[in-house]
Formats: sequence, structure tokens, C-alpha cells
Amino acid sequence: MKVDLYERIWMYAVVVMLAAFFTSTAIAAARGGIHPPSHVETINPKSAFSDPRLAPQGVAVDQNGHVHARVIGLTFAWMPAEMTLPAGTPVTFHVTSTDVLHGFQIVGTNGQAEVIPGYISQFTTQFDAGDYLIACNEYCGVGHHTMASKLHVVPREQWHAPAPTITTSTGGQHGGH
Ligand code: CUA
Repeated sequence: MKVDLYERIWMYAVVVMLAAFFTSTAIAAARGGIHPPSHVETINPKSAFSDPRLAPQGVAVDQNGHVHARVIGLTFAWMPAEMTLPAGTPVTFHVTSTDVLHGFQIVGTNGQAEVIPGYISQFTTQFDAGDYLIACNEYCGVGHHTMASKLHVVPREQWHAPAPTITTSTGGQHGGH
């Protein structure tokens, strides 16, 4: 089969470009520990605020000492507006929405999840000490740009753990992340 020279050049160029894109994605995922959230857990968005898996919102510790952060997104805020977590400690986030799609992003970290009404997004990660911005990275309406909250990460010895507030039967699930 006769393939024109220019056509052949473009074919090879496309192959090289695709290989570069796939390789860079694979390297970024492996280096940064980035992976898609895979935890499927449903919730009634109307009762999310009182659901024992998400109430009260904020930082909680289960009976095994594992730290959880429970967050609800709604137009146009993250509840709670501020959280303090210990550095260098795995924290499992449980995030849901009561209205529309939001994007939970802890800026400058690998902590990120799409937040979907009816589902609890879950991921586990840990942080270096510092102050972080939690932004909404999914356009959700006129107040989208104001949808932000603060995360303070302090050295573990300066962190005051809340009393154990969750048991595994009400949401301290460690099955997947
Ligand atoms: Cu919530 Cu954009």
C-alpha cells in the first residue's frame, strides 16, 4: 500500500504523541499516588445533615483511632467551613452533596473527589503541616467561586483529637479507598 510521505510523517507523529500522553499520565499517577475514588456508598441527600455517617460534620475519630473528616457540600459552601487535622496521619474523607454536583479539592495535595448528591465520596490521604484551601472545582452555579473552606494541618502532638465519635457500624468503614 502506498502511503504518501506527509501522511506517513503524521501517522508516526500521532503515535509518538499518544505514547507521550499515556506515559506522562501513567508516571503522574504512579508518582503522585493519584487514583480515581472507587468507593460506592449511597445516601439520601435530603437527610444527609442528620445521617449518622456524616453528622456531626467535621473531624471525628473512630474506636480504632483512625481519623475521619466528614464534609457536606451545598450551594455555595463546604460544611464545616474550617477543619484542623494532624500532619502525617492517614485521614479518610467522606464527602457528599445535598443539591448539585460539586468538586472537592484540597488545593496543592492529592486530596480530591467529585461530590455527587446521593453518594458518599471517600478517599484516604495524609498531609504535611500547613494551611490548605479547600475549593470547589466543579462549576455549580453563580456562587461557585465563593465555595471554599479552610484546612489547617498541625503537627500531630499539637492536635487535639476529638473523642471517638464513630463506630464501624455507622460509617467508619475501612474497606476501600
Ligand atoms: Cu460547588 Cu462549584
